[in-house]
Amino acid sequence: MDSTRTVVLAGASGFIGTYLRRRFQEDGWMVRTIGRKGTGSAGAAWADDAGMARVLNGAELVVNLAGRSVSCRYSERNKGVIMDSRVSTTKALGRAIARCQEPPSTWLNASTGTIYRDARDRPQSEFDGELGTGFSVDVAKAWEAALESAVTPGTRKIPLRIAIVLGRGGGALAPFANLARLGLGGHMGDGWQKFSWVHVEDLYRSIRFLHARTGIAGPVNVASPEVVSNREMMHLVRRAYGARFGIPTPGWLLRAGAILIRTETELVLKSRWVQPQKLLDAGFVYSQPELGQALLQIARSRP
Ligand SMILES: NC(=O)c1ccc[n+]([C@@H]2O[C@H](COP(=O)([O-])OP(=O)(O)OC[C@H]3O[C@@H](n4cnc5c(N)ncnc54)[C@H](OP(=O)(O)O)[C@@H]3O)[C@@H](O)[C@H]2O)c1
Repeated sequence: MDSTRTVVLAGASGFIGTYLRRRFQEDGWMVRTIGRKGTGSAGAAWADDAGMARVLNGAELVVNLAGRSVSCRYSERNKGVIMDSRVSTTKALGRAIARCQEPPSTWLNASTGTIYRDARDRPQSEFDGELGTGFSVDVAKAWEAALESAVTPGTRKIPLRIAIVLGRGGGALAPFANLARLGLGGHMGDGWQKFSWVHVEDLYRSIRFLHARTGIAGPVNVASPEVVSNREMMHLVRRAYGARFGIPTPGWLLRAGAILIRTETELVLKSRWVQPQKLLDAGFVYSQPELGQALLQIARSRP
């Protein structure tokens, strides 16, 4: 019998998927994929129901990361693709797992810490967090509802409410680092909005941890417990990238600039305060718990 542990990564070609693939392989796992292109015997495309079931059958873990990037203007067309690329892939995965004779024991589906309301008053845990309103919250709710409605009796399902993931080449860090290098890395808006983050290595380690801890159920917040303000975050970004000063950007300028660079200010102005209570209660130990150290490690790491 083949004793190699197998993980299926769906949406594996992006920032997080590339990192997870490398780390699982370094730790001796076999990696199979599901994506827009099904490549080779270890890969299947979303349109191929039978191929997906073949790839999933016998794997012990599946991690779904698929979704069109949210870093764009929220036009009606983009909104439709952002929503559909998450909901339809999650539903397809549920159907494929239901066809498996040996389904994975754990299905971790990406969701987002943005599901919580704009919070400046108190942290939002899985137990007492309040869900927010607006388009990105609607996406997160629909994404989690698609996971919830999948009928997979042999497979434990967990939505991962992931904070902003930091790592080399990570989409979320690059604009902050670039602004700092240009001398524009001051605080954004009033700068008191909270910044919830997690190092990509701790995302990998929390995935391994949650797979092993079979008693954990329901949504899990994946974030570092050290949440900082935007002011503190930009100070640490400037330090990591060697910028001696940083000009602050007021909210009105961000709103104008966001139109020019085709993104949304919510990505930097919303106050995200995500408390990873379930991971902490279960004894998860972070490899990068402090933002300053995490940013220095990323800035110094080689491509
Ligand atoms: N990065 C963060 O800070 C962060 C924070 C919270 C949540 N998340 C969520 O975690 C997931 C992975 O994040 P990431 O940063 O790795 O994103 P990413 O680099 O944009 O990768 C997402 C992957 O989704 C697939 N994809 C893209 N457009 C698609 C479409 N229209 N239909 C179906 N699949 C599509 C692609 O994989 P294939 O080419 O293999 O199909 C792509 O590589 C995303 O769903 C994201 O919303 C990320």
